[in-house]
Amino acid sequence: MYSSIVIALAALPFLVGAVPLENSRRNVLSIPLSKRGPSQLDLRRLHAGTHHTMAKLRRGFEAFEQNTGKRHPLSPKHGRSDDHKAPGNVSLTDFHENMWYGTIQVGTPGKAYSVNIDTGSDNLFLSGPSCQSCQGHAIYDPSNSTTAKDLGLSVNLTYGPANVIGNVFADTVNLGGFEASNGTLVVASDVTANFNATKVGVDGTLGMGFRGISQLNKPTIFETLVEENQLEEPVFGLVLAESNSELIIGGRDHSRYKGDLVYTPVNGRAGYWLAELDRITINGNDTQVGTKRAIIDSGSPFLLGEQNFVANIYANIPGSARLNSAESLDYPFWTYPCNTTVNASIFFNNTPFNISSDNFSLGTLGGGLCVGAFAAFPASPTYYGYWVIGDNFLRNVYTEFDYGNIRVGFAQLA
Ligand SMILES: *[C@@H]1O[C@H](CO)[C@@H](O)[C@H](O)[C@H]1NC(C)=O
Ligand SMILES: *[C@@H]1O[C@H](CO)[C@@H](O)[C@H](O)[C@H]1NC(C)=O
Ligand SMILES: *[C@@H]1O[C@H](CO)[C@@H](O)[C@H](O)[C@H]1NC(C)=O
Ligand SMILES: *[C@@H]1O[C@H](CO)[C@@H](O)[C@H](O)[C@H]1NC(C)=O
Ligand SMILES: *[C@@H]1O[C@H](CO)[C@@H](O)[C@H](O)[C@H]1NC(C)=O
Ligand SMILES: *[C@@H]1O[C@H](CO)[C@@H](O)[C@H](O)[C@H]1NC(C)=O
Ligand SMILES: *[C@@H]1O[C@H](CO)[C@@H](O)[C@H](O)[C@H]1NC(C)=O
Ligand SMILES: *[C@@H]1O[C@H](CO)[C@@H](O)[C@H](O)[C@H]1NC(C)=O
Ligand SMILES: *[C@@H]1O[C@H](CO)[C@@H](O)[C@H](O)[C@H]1NC(C)=O
Ligand SMILES: *[C@@H]1O[C@H](CO)[C@@H](O)[C@H](O)[C@H]1NC(C)=O
Repeated sequence: MYSSIVIALAALPFLVGAVPLENSRRNVLSIPLSKRGPSQLDLRRLHAGTHHTMAKLRRGFEAFEQNTGKRHPLSPKHGRSDDHKAPGNVSLTDFHENMWYGTIQVGTPGKAYSVNIDTGSDNLFLSGPSCQSCQGHAIYDPSNSTTAKDLGLSVNLTYGPANVIGNVFADTVNLGGFEASNGTLVVASDVTANFNATKVGVDGTLGMGFRGISQLNKPTIFETLVEENQLEEPVFGLVLAESNSELIIGGRDHSRYKGDLVYTPVNGRAGYWLAELDRITINGNDTQVGTKRAIIDSGSPFLLGEQNFVANIYANIPGSARLNSAESLDYPFWTYPCNTTVNASIFFNNTPFNISSDNFSLGTLGGGLCVGAFAAFPASPTYYGYWVIGDNFLRNVYTEFDYGNIRVGFAQLA
């Protein structure tokens, strides 16, 4: 009898020890979660986050084209002349703020690694023994694992301005108790950024998208679990709440949500969890959304959309203004008075899912101003044609990623 298995998650950079909980049915690991406090914002880092998200998506589009010979449906039609390079003065540190991580075991005997859980990317990468820039991380050494297989492939993966250079191995990967015996991973020999553990709190990234966007053109760890028939149901769920956040694998945790999951079909296996939203309302007022396509991305801290449609959102918030600072030039952010209540709802399958007024804010800028959770793509001839729905929405709901039926489900958190 299979049961749901839970991996606890926590938001970076608040690294704290794992606290195992006894549970008769499930092997539950819980890492206490710290709140992102109402502190001063670092705009440079916010900006780096948008660059990271866009570089990641672009990498996926390119991989998709290589894997299938077809242009990705969301890939910009005007090439990538306007797909901005990340600004020089950013590091992986900047990208890894407020990301969700959990612990997985890799190899035989199994060794623990903390990894970002990212539904908007695809590969598993870990630091290898020869990686000089990976100091302080849990190192995956294939020669220490009796089940490691060298697939004889070297790769150079782009992560924003950084490259992860390494070799591809297959090994046993344990996701909360389920074992993928032939999991593919990249063992980094070099990360062209300061990936030191003092800077970046995770040992690697676990992509939870579809194989289509894999730069390796190999199944993800989750897909491998499905292919190896390890799961009763080919689904995983995310609870990115203030406490007891979890990645639920192989089923759903009914105790974490109210009512039924409301499902929205996902657009084929285009690599991303690309769902369709109906509309977005602010304080009950409809805003024009333009496109309805929405990438559900646990690896993005905020929500991104086309400039004019994001401007429509803020037009419903008295006192809001586009942030006019050097840091915000190509990826615009908006401010609004912190003392304003913003009731934002995103409708999926005709059902509103609310972003709490607290979660609408990315933080305070000073002077009573908050930065809003919606930011925009750069103004350019390119029509991006999708929304990126990240953390500030996902932390309000239980999200199910249903690989079998190719759909996502949302429910109110319990
Ligand atoms: C990079 O950013 C940091 C933090 O904002 C700042 O202290 C540093 O001077 C910047 N370096 C350069 C070369 O701009
Ligand atoms: C790198 O990490 C190690 C161990 O965590 C630490 O001792 C060292 O000071 C760090 N170096 C840099 C340059 O951050
Ligand atoms: C590999 O195994 C050796 C011998 O047991 C040990 O000294 C070393 O720390 C291990 N390396 C890693 C990265 O686990
Ligand atoms: C990795 O790719 C980047 C371009 O994305 C290139 O600049 C770099 O030289 C490559 N590194 C290696 C070791 O192949
Ligand atoms: C293991 O995975 C690799 C990479 O995807 C694949 O080439 C190989 O055929 C797989 N082996 C088995 C036994 O499934
Ligand atoms: C926001 O929603 C709350 C509860 O539904 C309501 O009391 C409040 O008036 C709303 N605020 C605005 C600005 O619509
Ligand atoms: C929101 O809708 C209400 C009712 O239609 C209207 O009175 C109000 O002006 C609208 N608010 C904004 C900011 O457009
Ligand atoms: C969602 O927001 C709408 C509008 O503010 C409100 O009427 C509704 O009660 C909220 N739903 C939940 C579950 O909080
Ligand atoms: C997000 O909203 C929830 C519910 O209102 C609240 O408990 C939590 O503190 C908020 N988190 C942040 C980071 O604003
Ligand atoms: C909100 O803050 C602004 C300035 O920060 C102030 O002018 C305004 O009176 C405040 N509104 C409320 C309802 O407190």
